[in-house]
This record gives sequence, structure tokens and C-alpha cells, in this order.
Amino acid sequence: MDCFRIIGNGPLQGVVEINGAKNAVLPLIACGLLTDQELFLENVPLLGDVHCMIQLVRSLGMEVTRADHSLTLKTPSVTNFVASYDYVRKMRASVLVLGALLGRCGKATVSLPGGCAIGPRPVDLHIQGLEAFGVHIDLVNGYIVAHAPGGRVLGGKYTFPKVSVGGTENLLLAAVLAKGESCIENAAQEPEVSDLIECLCKMGAEIEGKGTSTLHIQGKDFLNGTRHYVLPDRLEMGTYIAAALATKGELVLKGCNGELMASYKPVLDQMGVLLREVQPSVFHIKSPGSWPGFHIQTQPFPGFPTDLQAQFMVLALFANSASSIEENLFENRFMHVAELNRMGANITVEGKTAFIPGQAHLIGAPVMATDLRASVSLVLAALAASGETIVRRVYHLDRGYEDLVGKLSRCGAQIERLTQEPGQTAPLAHQGV
Ligand code: EPZ
Repeated sequence: MDCFRIIGNGPLQGVVEINGAKNAVLPLIACGLLTDQELFLENVPLLGDVHCMIQLVRSLGMEVTRADHSLTLKTPSVTNFVASYDYVRKMRASVLVLGALLGRCGKATVSLPGGCAIGPRPVDLHIQGLEAFGVHIDLVNGYIVAHAPGGRVLGGKYTFPKVSVGGTENLLLAAVLAKGESCIENAAQEPEVSDLIECLCKMGAEIEGKGTSTLHIQGKDFLNGTRHYVLPDRLEMGTYIAAALATKGELVLKGCNGELMASYKPVLDQMGVLLREVQPSVFHIKSPGSWPGFHIQTQPFPGFPTDLQAQFMVLALFANSASSIEENLFENRFMHVAELNRMGANITVEGKTAFIPGQAHLIGAPVMATDLRASVSLVLAALAASGETIVRRVYHLDRGYEDLVGKLSRCGAQIERLTQEPGQTAPLAHQGV
């Protein structure tokens, strides 16, 4: 099983190309099911999760052609209405084909995604919302068996009891071809949801309220193809900003969009981080060298993103004073804490809050990746640590970060991918020598 060997090598310096957003492109691929015309997506990141989504939609009848960072999608007709457990278990966002199949064909059988490392991740709200739109749903042997009486989603009104990105996206994908009007209240406002709405409207959908928590959709009889440029990945941007800061270096990030930093820029401002847009979509980030501790509470957009919680925890380690981070979205998203503590951090967790004392001196150690964002926080810590770190189970990283090793290496990081774990030997001091 692949792992990374990283040796702390001082400040990063160089240029990083930011790719398109993983969490935008996955629902956009599902859009290809909504029309028999061609949907052309540009700025598509080369990621494991994108590959999984492509495999799934191909199994449903979509023709997918990839050329570098673009995809051409075309679904002349849906030939299979079952999204099997084999696909869905690999990548939770597969559940988004449920809304698209219901929108296009009025029926779908989609495996329940099951939980993952960060929590049980139910889809009960997706189901409640679709039922409010007139869809009949049964749960049979671990599958969601859904059909719209009369063969077409009616549309309706649903208020999410808690914000759900995927739930909002699934309802949008079902509503755009519904017979009547739909209203989604307490909808997710993440930029990736807005990007989906933008693409759907270019396809001919009628959606009002983009960027707000209330969406009104007027169902259409059909949608057309279009071209769509996937928005930059604000989480990848945040991750490389953290990499520059953690190593007390400076980076130039290309392909950015400053507005997408809005949910975490207030924390960077508190830290005194120097972040300048030197050219359109090109940002220069320079570490201030030291920064005060900070307090974060993860919240749905426009609050601080849960997907940057682990990365900013590494920055809290090096702050001059204590910090706290409260994780409010997922039940088990502190698995990086134990691994960071193996490297010399001294983080304590009480309930949903992590307390980080700051002024840490990290020492390299063998650590294990557990989920996508926790994994990258271990890489950031290893870059800033002294000595060698082996990060195991890096397949998590391949799901969400294109060419992580290449991008970091080109900025001076000492990082390499090993196809097998080096022999585990305890430090000499522990071998009774
Ligand atoms: C999306 O997941 C993202 N994934 C996640 O990013 C992100 O962390 C999450 O939104 C929150 O921003 C993609 O977009 C592919 P939710 P999603 O539905 O849609 C609960 C990453 O690292 N909930 O907004 O699955 C749920 O358990 C990934 O890129 C229900 O209870 O998240 C969670 O506690 C990780 N019932 C909360 O809501 C439901 O039916 C938010 O989940 C649905 C969700």
C-alpha cells in the first residue's frame, strides 16, 4: 500500500497551480444525465473521486470522453437505473445520481452510501426532500428504490432541518426537470452548490436564489447541453496557504478566486497573513513568521469550512498562544489529532472541541491517514517537522488532491511516494543499544 516519505526541509517556495473543485465537479458530472445533448466541462481535476464518478455514470449509459483537464459528457439515453453498492461504497457523492436519474427518467435504484471515517453520513434528508417532491421511496436490502408516480417528479416544497450540501444538490438535480415548481428552504450556500446552479441555468434550468438559503425552481420539459468551467477548489487553495504558513515559506498560487477564500480569510487576517492578488487569479502568500492563537467553529457556508479544519489545526500548533477548534458538522473529524500527537503535538479534545496549546516542535514519525482532509494535515505537519515522517494509506489523498507530491516537490519539499512501507524499526534508543 502506497505511502509518502517526507523529510522536513524548511520553508516552501514556489508556484502552485490550483485545480478545479472536487466538490463542484462531482455534482456537475451528474448533470450530464439530465440531457441527451453534450455537456462540456473544463478545469476538471484529475482525482480518484472523479474517476469513480465517471465509472458510475458510464454504467448508467453516459458517454464520457476525457482530454487532459476537460470532460465531454453525453447521455443519449439512460440504459441502467441502478447505481450499485460497488460504485457507491467507493465514493459517497455517487448518491447524487439519485436526483439526476429521477429528474431524467422518474426512477432510480441507488445503494445507500454507508458511513465513512468521519461519521455515519446518513442520507435521510435527501430521501425526505425527494418524498416532498412527490417521489415514492422504499429502502430495500441497502438500496434506495425510488420512483415518481406517473414517471415524472412533481416538485414541491422542502425545508432542510439542517444544512446539507449533497441533499441540496440532489433535490436540485431532481427538481430542474420536474412537472411543476419546487422550493428548497435552508438550502446549502456553498460555492460548489452555486456553481452547480450556474451550470444548470446554462443548460436551460430556471432556478432563482443562487447563493441564498432559499431556492425556487421551475421544472422544465428538457435541458440542453452547455460548456462549463469548474470553479477553483477553495479547499486546495486553503491547503496550500496552510502549507506556506506551516513551513514559514511563501507561495504563488495560480488559478485562484479570492472570493472563494471568504469563509476562512477572517482567520488568516487575525493571524496577520500577507495574502495579495498580484495578478487576476494569482495570489502571493507569505508567512508572517509568527501568529497569535485563534478560535474556529466549523459551520456550513459562509462559516468556516469543516474541510479545512484539520489543515488549520496544524497552523494552530505553531501559533504563539493557545487555540481552539470546534467541529460542528461531523461526529468524528478529529482523527488527525492522535496522529499529530505522535509527532509531538499536545492537543486535547473535549467533546467536539480540540484545544491546541501552540509553540509546538514536531518530530517526524510514522503516521496513518484516515480521511482526505486529515491525511493532508499530516503532510503539512511532516513538512514542518524535523526528521522523517512516513504517511501511510495515502490513497485517501489521491481522492482529492491532484499531483500533491509533484506540486510540493516543485516548491522545495522533500516528499516521495513509496510503493511499499519501509521496514518499521524503533529508534535506536528503544532498542536497548
Ligand atoms: C459535502 O458532503 C462535501 N462533499 C464534504 O466534503 C463536506 O465536508 C460536507 O459537504 C460539508 O460541507 C462533497 O461535496 C462531495 P452534508 P455531504 O450533507 O454533502 C448530516 C471532502 O473532504 N446529514 O452537507 O455529504 C451529515 O451527517 C468532503 O471533500 C444528515 O444528517 O455533507 C453531516 O453531519 C468530506 N442527513 C451534515 O449533515 C443527510 O441526509 C452535513 O452533511 C445528509 C447530511
